[in-house]
Amino acid sequence: MCGIIGYTGKNRAAPIVLQGLRKLEYRGYDSAGMASALNGALYFKKAAGKIDDIDKKYELGELPGNTAIAHTRWATHGGVTQENAHPHTDCKNSIAVVHNGIVDNYQELRSALIRKGHVFDSETDTEVIPHLIEEYLKEGNTFEQATRLASQKLEGSYAFIVISLDTPGRILAIRKDNPLVIGIGRHGTFAASDTLSLQECESVVFPDDGELAILRSDGVDFLDIEGEQIEKESSTLDMNNYQYDKGSYEYFMLKEIMEEPQAIRAATIQDEQIFTRLAMDILRARQVVITACGTSRYAALVGRYLFSDVAKKFCDVVMASEFEYFSKSIDGSTLVIAVSQSGETADVIEGIKRAKANGAQIVSIVNRYGSVLSRMSDDVLYLGCGPEVAVAATKSMVSQMAIFYLLAYAMRNEFKIAANNLRHLADELERTLKGNGKGIVRLAEAFKDIEDFYYVARGMNSPIASEAALKLKEISYIHAEGLPAGELKHGTLALIDDGTPVVVLCPNDNTFSDTISNGIEAKARGAYIIGVSDIEHELFDFWIKIPHVDGFLYPLISVAPLHLLAYYLALKRGTDPDKPRNLAKSVTVK
Ligand code: AGP
Repeated sequence: MCGIIGYTGKNRAAPIVLQGLRKLEYRGYDSAGMASALNGALYFKKAAGKIDDIDKKYELGELPGNTAIAHTRWATHGGVTQENAHPHTDCKNSIAVVHNGIVDNYQELRSALIRKGHVFDSETDTEVIPHLIEEYLKEGNTFEQATRLASQKLEGSYAFIVISLDTPGRILAIRKDNPLVIGIGRHGTFAASDTLSLQECESVVFPDDGELAILRSDGVDFLDIEGEQIEKESSTLDMNNYQYDKGSYEYFMLKEIMEEPQAIRAATIQDEQIFTRLAMDILRARQVVITACGTSRYAALVGRYLFSDVAKKFCDVVMASEFEYFSKSIDGSTLVIAVSQSGETADVIEGIKRAKANGAQIVSIVNRYGSVLSRMSDDVLYLGCGPEVAVAATKSMVSQMAIFYLLAYAMRNEFKIAANNLRHLADELERTLKGNGKGIVRLAEAFKDIEDFYYVARGMNSPIASEAALKLKEISYIHAEGLPAGELKHGTLALIDDGTPVVVLCPNDNTFSDTISNGIEAKARGAYIIGVSDIEHELFDFWIKIPHVDGFLYPLISVAPLHLLAYYLALKRGTDPDKPRNLAKSVTVK
């Protein structure tokens, strides 16, 4: 979490950095700040709040100079206060640092630095970084050496960007386990958490762990972990892939839900040969384990059913934050599939490190090009659904399920058939989204004051029940549970009362009649039943109609109206669907 950006170049830095910072706000939005350098002085502005509010009050974009760094925060260590906002500085205010990650040993470092006379202004782990650099400078090291040595003292994960008064026009950036991209543009150079925030960059370089990037206005040098200069490969950046705006939509989330059909189409544009090769690897592997978090995990759970039903290949899905507790059974005959929209999720990366160390083959399903996860994997399948900005994942999930569908059919040598089916599905989904909008708005109005919501389904539809519940909790703050319908009677039924909304996902597939029976049990306890199906049933108090599609594709079509329901419930309750409280889009801490 947290977004960092720095620019040094021929133009005034603050407006450029501010524009990039806004694009990083999905990473955290509880405070923000900027530091710039001009004529032997550092200038700072920082505060708690969202970037636009801070900018209105403190005019971040007005900071002087052609070199600046900035930060948008998701608090880990220390409350949401101005003092804890970044940048953080050394004792003399001559070094400024913005950081994304967690310094696990900060308390020990902080105590040692305090014993040496350093004075701290915040409760953050980050503040040890400028003080450590200051300490190494005192010992006679250069800025580059001091920054490298300081980084080597840090345990945990980090990407940080630093400027110093003593080296005007220069920015240093370094990472370990957290994302960092260096951008080279016509008028200057950038360091940032992601490519989305870069502007007018012709090429980008992704530093590896421990490598130091030294940015000047006219180019970048790289030092390896030993401090030796190295050549890094750069790649070109097609800025068209990185532009995003809300268009005519009020929120990114609605725009991204409406892009779900297009996301399915984009997912089908794949290299069949790669899918076929990976499908064979999956079939051959002694065991296949999929790992992911949150919504990506629900897509993986749908994938698990698809592998089993379509290709008769059993696999397991392990929640990434629990992966390490299973890692002893991961070996060279295991194929691990990591699913992550951002490709940055710390829990996923941690699990993949362990799997790699044990010799497993790693395949990742990722949206973000050049992400940490994609660079760790033996093979990467990209979603290609474009930037997803709203914290709540929507179109990326639909893409992930489409990729699993293609993989499952590739195991049967039927990739082309699957791609075709998906393209038809995309058209159906477009109609479904259009056809259900008004009814869902009415439903949201009726239930806007409710405090509990339940979602049930069976088989490969059951992860969609969990996904719908997660989305509702995440953006509308309504308590919700999603569970396999057969489990209701094993406990949760006790919570069903007069008027409790229960969404019953029961497409006309092999799960239909059993799921209806479970819905009837809930209705007998007073539940208000919202049916999601292609056929109407007397059980339903409200019917969300979906089209009849290939049985293995229902999850991809039924999730969309439930994303809409969560979205409209959030609007009716007055919450911001794009920036839910306490959350961030990229979860780069464990
Ligand atoms: C989804 O709405 C959530 N914001 C969250 O569960 C998310 O899916 C999870 O953090 C995983 O993110 P990733 O796909 O980028 O790894």
